[in-house]
Formats: sequence, C-alpha cells, structure tokens
Amino acid sequence: MAAVEFAHDPVLADKVVELLAPDRGGTFLDGTLGGGGHAERILAAAPGARVVGLDQDPDALTAARRRLGVRGDRVVFVNGNFRDTARIATDLKEIDDLAGALLDLGVSSFQIDSEARGFSFRRGTPLNMRMGGTTGGGRTAADILNAASEQQLGKLFREYGEERRWRAVAREIIRRRQTTPFRTADDLVAAFTTVLGPGIDARTKARLFQALRIEVNDEMTALQEALTSIRGLLSPQGRFVVISYHSLEDRIVKNAFREWSRDCICPPELPVCRCRGAALGRVLTRKPVRPDEAEISRNPRARSARLRAWEKS
Ligand SMILES: C[S@@+](CC[C@H](N)C(=O)[O-])C[C@H]1O[C@@H](n2cnc3c(N)ncnc32)[C@H](O)[C@@H]1O
Repeated sequence: MAAVEFAHDPVLADKVVELLAPDRGGTFLDGTLGGGGHAERILAAAPGARVVGLDQDPDALTAARRRLGVRGDRVVFVNGNFRDTARIATDLKEIDDLAGALLDLGVSSFQIDSEARGFSFRRGTPLNMRMGGTTGGGRTAADILNAASEQQLGKLFREYGEERRWRAVAREIIRRRQTTPFRTADDLVAAFTTVLGPGIDARTKARLFQALRIEVNDEMTALQEALTSIRGLLSPQGRFVVISYHSLEDRIVKNAFREWSRDCICPPELPVCRCRGAALGRVLTRKPVRPDEAEISRNPRARSARLRAWEKS
C-alpha cells in the first residue's frame, strides 16, 4: 500500500443512491470500487443490500477493505478489470442477478496523489499510469511514448486529448526520444512546452496526460465491453448508473443506453424488423446529471462528471 491516505470524495453520491434505490434489496455491483466511498453509501442506505466491489487496483481494494470491513459479509471484494465482468460472474454466483450496477470511471484522487503510480504531471513522477498498479502487466506510459509510431501518438492526442496541435506534439515526442528516452513527467511536460509554449496551463497538461492514461489502460474499449457484459447480469428492473469524466466516455454510455432503449435497431432500409423487436429497458436520465456548484467547490475533481442511468425491463 502506498504511503498516501486514501482520500477520495464520492461524486454525485446522493444521486447514485437515489437512482440505484438499494432499499429494494439485492446485490449491487460496484465495478470501480476505489476507496469504497459509493459502496459505503449504498450499504448505509439499505440494510438489505449487498455489494460486490470490483477494482483492478490492489491498493484500492486494501483501502476499501479497511473502510467497509465493518459491513462484514455484506461485501465481497474482487480484484479484476470490469471488462471481464461476465467471466468473473461465472466464478462468483453473487454477480449473476444484479439489482444494480455502478461504474464511476477514471482514476481516484488517491491514485493521482500516489507518486509511484505516475498519473500526475508533478516533477519527477515516473511515467507509469497503469491502473492495475506498478507491478501489474501491460505497457507503461513511458513504453508507449518510447515505442509508438508518430501516427499512433498523433491519434491518441487527437482523439483522447482533443488537442488541436496533435501532429506537432507527436513529432516532438519522436524527435526527443531519438536522443533521450521518456522516463518522467518532466520529459513529457518539456515536449508539450516546446510545442504549446511555456505558458501551458495545468488544465491542458491534465488533458494531455489523461489522453495517455486512456491509451495505457485501453479505457474506451474496456468500457464498451463492460457495458454489454454488465447489462447481461442485471435482473429485471435492475439499474445501471455510470459516471464519466471524458466526453468520449460519456458518448459511449449515452449511445449504449439509447440503443438498448429502442424497440427496433434494424437498418432503415430493411422492410421487416429482424432484430430483437423490443426495447431492453429505458433511460432514466434524459440529460446527464451534473454536480452543482457547491459540490464542485468542495470537490473540484467532480467538475467534469456526467452521470447517466438506465433500467432493464
Ligand atoms: C473514480 S475511482 C472510484 C472511486 C469510488 N467510486 C469511491 O467512491 O471511492 C475509479 C476506480 O476505478 C478503478 N478502475 C478504473 N478502470 C477500471 C477497470 N477497467 N476495471 C476495474 N477497475 C477500474 C480505478 O482503479 C479506481 O480505483
């Protein structure tokens, strides 16, 4: 466990509890357990509710165990990636009949504050960014910066970073790594500064670092896979709540919830309906729910949060 206290305020927590309605009882999957902030609220709201808490970060699970341990056998802790929920469910019978599920995407404040995890652009931070931890498998951010093609780098800063000067950023990374490989956040900030100027602000750095983190953890594909597998595990009237922090994530969630709520998904040129012919459920949030000013000033990380909810038929 890193030497940092697990400090993370659950975002839109009242809304999450209202929409999941745990007083109906049953099992709720928290697919992004983190420090257990939302899970604690769900358990506190309803003595009849149980939680399966999943996180790919072993440090998060340690923190959540400490926080939720008092709830004893009402919580099951699982270390894994939410994209594998269907496979995890084959071993864990609690997950195959869910009253509700929550995904609170991205990283926790705890992960950002743990220097060794390499999510922040503070000086000296190693370019790691793997959500599974420092010793887990997969490519680190440094591996990607030192090996990806100019085209791949450009694509990630354009798509995930929404950076106008993505071509120049990719070119500068390639130029720099020919003499010195990327190792710490300082190396990457220096490349951004060359292209975007010395006045580059913290928000821009955060946006570009986030783009790299999304690539390291293959976050968009993981989300797409998780949405479909978790939907399959919900019981009738089971509710699915997702909080996203990036416009691309939010679009994936919005489109999935809309598509599942349509009666017919056949291409318009087909004369007769050949698809499932009935909606799988209904959208509960016509517009995304955003935190109010009071929550944002208490917890600035909530600023970009958008919550959407869906109910299975
Ligand atoms: C924003 S935090 C969740 C905070 C939590 N709701 C709370 O109140 O403490 C997101 C958590 O999701 C985890 N996570 C992100 N992507 C994941 C994935 N694909 N599979 C499993 N856990 C994931 C991260 O490791 C992190 O702990």
